[in-house]
Amino acid sequence: MAAGSIDLEVVQTVEGIREAVARARGSSAGLRVGFVPTMGALHAGHARLIERCREVADRVVVSIFVNPTQFGPTEDLAKYPRTLDRDLEVAQRAGASVVFTPTDEIIYPRGKAATFVEVPGISHVLEGAVRPTHFRGVATVVLALFEIVRPDLAVFGQKDFQQQLLIRRMVGDLHVPVEIVTEPTVREADGLAMSSRNRYLSPEERAAATVLHRALEAARAAVRGGEREAGRVRQILDRTISLERLASLDYAEVADADSLEPLVSIDASRRAVALVAARVGTTRLIDNALLAE
Ligand code: PAF
Repeated sequence: MAAGSIDLEVVQTVEGIREAVARARGSSAGLRVGFVPTMGALHAGHARLIERCREVADRVVVSIFVNPTQFGPTEDLAKYPRTLDRDLEVAQRAGASVVFTPTDEIIYPRGKAATFVEVPGISHVLEGAVRPTHFRGVATVVLALFEIVRPDLAVFGQKDFQQQLLIRRMVGDLHVPVEIVTEPTVREADGLAMSSRNRYLSPEERAAATVLHRALEAARAAVRGGEREAGRVRQILDRTISLERLASLDYAEVADADSLEPLVSIDASRRAVALVAARVGTTRLIDNALLAE
């Protein structure tokens, strides 16, 4: 495939991706290989991750793998959007030179219940409290992908704040030699964070979904205006979302941005992040914002 300026190689096997990465790294092994793991259904947010990866690495590898172990028993894995042809175009246009598209059997050769990676403290709060096996599925597949691809660095979106923190912690704890880069959330013009789930919103719900961003902006404005009590900032998030008829709040938290420990007060000694999850219609959306940057 060579429609854009960079030729795109698409590989499915472990041997294939290792050879492609070796070629991408160059004969002197001097080039930096960056990695963007995805589950496909690529949108402008993913394109930005790939572009950022291209800015900080010489070659970009993207994986497209809908990881079964991060779906709960009530979450519909079969309904997850699969748009491979379009994904390859988006990846190539954004600057990828290799796309890895493994099967379940390639990633989990001994079945899906073999070895797991848990990151206590981060795996089971917030999103992890609602989706108890989600983050061990994410940590396990990302570690497996890192071992297969062996990149120098990997780019994750701030949109999934808890996920990028989980990966950072795992990489630090297990001495995985991959630099983690976090790219700010890409938003629609009205502030809605880009997400594969936005496609499930009706036009009315789509308009209502901006309430997550509006709540986070209200929280940031309060902190900029001098509010230091985390409880009051939580109330602002809660109240803003409860005023939106089509939205129902799942959680609104103000936490330490490096540990996710809930905060009592916001001060210069640690970075604070506000995190929200809400259902808009039947679609569950998440968003976050750093406070007092
Ligand atoms: O963010 C995602 O798309 C997934 O959780 C990831 C990191 C690709 C792991 O399956």
